[in-house]
Amino acid sequence: MLICVMMDYKENVKEELIMKILNFGSMNLDHVYQVPHFSLPGESLSVTELKTGPGGKGLNQSIAMAKAGAKVYHGGCLGDGGAMLQKLLEENGVDTSLLCPVAEAQGHAIIQVAPNGENSILYYGGSNRCVTEAQIEATLAPFTKGDLLVLQNEIVLLPEIIEKAFAKGLTILLNPSPFDEVLQQVDFGKLDWLIINELEAGFLTGSQDPDQAWEVLHGRYPRLSAVITLGGAGSRAYQVHGDKVEKVCQDAFKVQAVDTTGAGDTFTGYFAAGLMHGDALEICIKTAAMAAAISVTRSGAASSVPMRAEVELAMAQL
Ligand code: RIB
Repeated sequence: MLICVMMDYKENVKEELIMKILNFGSMNLDHVYQVPHFSLPGESLSVTELKTGPGGKGLNQSIAMAKAGAKVYHGGCLGDGGAMLQKLLEENGVDTSLLCPVAEAQGHAIIQVAPNGENSILYYGGSNRCVTEAQIEATLAPFTKGDLLVLQNEIVLLPEIIEKAFAKGLTILLNPSPFDEVLQQVDFGKLDWLIINELEAGFLTGSQDPDQAWEVLHGRYPRLSAVITLGGAGSRAYQVHGDKVEKVCQDAFKVQAVDTTGAGDTFTGYFAAGLMHGDALEICIKTAAMAAAISVTRSGAASSVPMRAEVELAMAQL
């Protein structure tokens, strides 16, 4: 049944919309600690539960796109200790032939998860900081105009990747997380899609109100479309069609949160897969919201991403 649903989805793709997706992004080993509360300054906190699993915003998004039914290539660096991450990508149908092995420890994250499912993350780049200019050329080489490039901010040389991808005519979607000073070097005018949360919207535009933030973004970068996620208040999508803007508001689906790690990545991956499938904006954002909602009911990052069949079943039951 699962296979049938996924095949139907792929078979429905209109011929002209079959483009490739490259996710040039991070891969992490996530060390997840269940904590009674986030550790406080100066506090030593004893923790009884530790799980190590697959993560990294890039990897999580690749897995989400693949589980949503898209054909995905994952580019980036494979460090020492990262073999299980490559294996997981491949088991989920992601093409890993563009990964570059590097002599550096695999990137990792130390994640505290509180009883209400909230997380607090320390990210160590490691292998993800080994991307080179030559690697960017080689990784982008197989992709052409109209293919989608998905990016986050956990690898180095992000501004250079965007410059080169723009010159090739790729469609570029950026999830600028974690938000840091590197983003000041990014030319947002070269992006097609931005997926940000309300805090990031505040950093970028001075307003966490989605409509106000959008007005600022649209004024600065007229061809940029955006999704602004608002946690429990859902999300807003603004898509530019020539001189018109289509706006869609999506409520959050209410669930019992176990672990919110990777929910944003699940959202981004499902949203990107929907766009490449040619789905209406309303469907893209609703499917992404449902996939993210299901992911927070489970532990882990990449391992909490649901299959498309589960997402469709949950939507059919609304
Ligand atoms: O977005 C969640 C991810 O952020 C985790 O998997 C962790 O690796 C950090 O990069």
